[in-house]
Amino acid sequence: MNFTFTDEQRLIAETAREFADREIIPRVRDNDRAGRFDRELASKLGEIGFLGAPVSEEYGGRSLDYISYALIVEQVGRADSSARTVVSVQSSLVCGSIEQWGSEEQKREWLPRLCSGEALGCFGLTEPDTGSDAANLRTRAKKVDGGWVINGNKMWISMGNVAEVALVFAQTDPDKRHKGLACFLVPTASEGYRAQEIHGKLGLRASDTAEISLDDVEVPDSAMLGEIGDGFKVAMSALDKGRYSVAAGCVGICEGCVDASVSYAQERRQFDVPIASFQLVQELIADMIVKRDAARMLVFRAGELKDRGQPSTVETSIAKLFATESAVECANAAIQVHGGSGYVDDYPVERYLRDARVTTLYEGTSQIQKLIIGRDATGINALLPPQPGA
Ligand code: CAA
Repeated sequence: MNFTFTDEQRLIAETAREFADREIIPRVRDNDRAGRFDRELASKLGEIGFLGAPVSEEYGGRSLDYISYALIVEQVGRADSSARTVVSVQSSLVCGSIEQWGSEEQKREWLPRLCSGEALGCFGLTEPDTGSDAANLRTRAKKVDGGWVINGNKMWISMGNVAEVALVFAQTDPDKRHKGLACFLVPTASEGYRAQEIHGKLGLRASDTAEISLDDVEVPDSAMLGEIGDGFKVAMSALDKGRYSVAAGCVGICEGCVDASVSYAQERRQFDVPIASFQLVQELIADMIVKRDAARMLVFRAGELKDRGQPSTVETSIAKLFATESAVECANAAIQVHGGSGYVDDYPVERYLRDARVTTLYEGTSQIQKLIIGRDATGINALLPPQPGA
């Protein structure tokens, strides 16, 4: 593993840091308080090229390597996890899937507009009764002349109210379980597509989250991404990219916690000295730094495998598990350093905690990541009933 950044990667990290400080941080508290999805900011993320960073230039992306992508996502995550969610969903789940699985026509139709931020997309996998058990979808796609009719409900869909296109995963033949799943590119203006905003979230308040219903939504054959039966692989390969992005964003949260805690501890005085003088405060900060750096290394390891085109599912799960849990722990510790001041939004740390909390749930819970890691280590799928005598 190469521990030295190229000049280009260093420049990308610097540009992302400046963009985050200039364009994201000044609006983050107001957006969070108002629970407002900032469409203008999403467009700015597109203009600077952050919504299609790993997508090929041929389709409007930046053709960046995965380390560069992580450096961008880290800085956006340090500034605002709601904005980072736009980057992760759009670049990894939506554009990444279309680029990997789409026909030439689908790529030309959607990728340039998604990469530029002119259009937004969402990823409709999860359902009210189907979360971790992603193969067990209730949404049905029925074959009709020239196309498909889709019926079902999707839940917890980031950007579902603001997207122009939804990747909708549906079962074409329940007897085939995951081998019957298909993925469709559904324009959200389609008749029968309805999205409703989910209110009352603990965090990610400036991120749009939707419940979606599909009532007899008709799409042509050309809307299918890949083939019938590819749906589960489309979803899993998308999550390989999405989990990587979530992990990188969480490194950014850890970094923000360190920065905020160091500067607060240096300024805040108690017992006539800065609280940074106290060993127990230094311990809190040191633990955050170790978690930030370890999480970052795990992200880069997964990124390097992706850049080499090698399998990275397990390494991505390790990075996602560690980075997301670390982000929660760092944010909690950062509040401890800030004392009462950390409990209100004059400082970013209470938002870091609220925003970090969902990352151990979405795109696969920490428990799912552990089962993926455990299965790889033991060769036993703990999701299947135990096989006595096996
Ligand atoms: N890439 C491509 N194909 C893959 C793959 C990958 N990473 N992982 C598995 N597959 C393929 C396998 O090769 C296998 O193919 P065959 O049938 O041809 O052999 C097939 O998929 C089934 O694989 P598994 O046996 O591993 O599948 P499983 O049922 O055991 O998977 C699971 C279990 C890993 C737990 C999976 O269901 C899973 O990841 N669940 C969590 C779902 C999840 O993360 N949901 C979050 C949704 S997104 C979201 O949060 C919303 C948002 O807006 C942000």
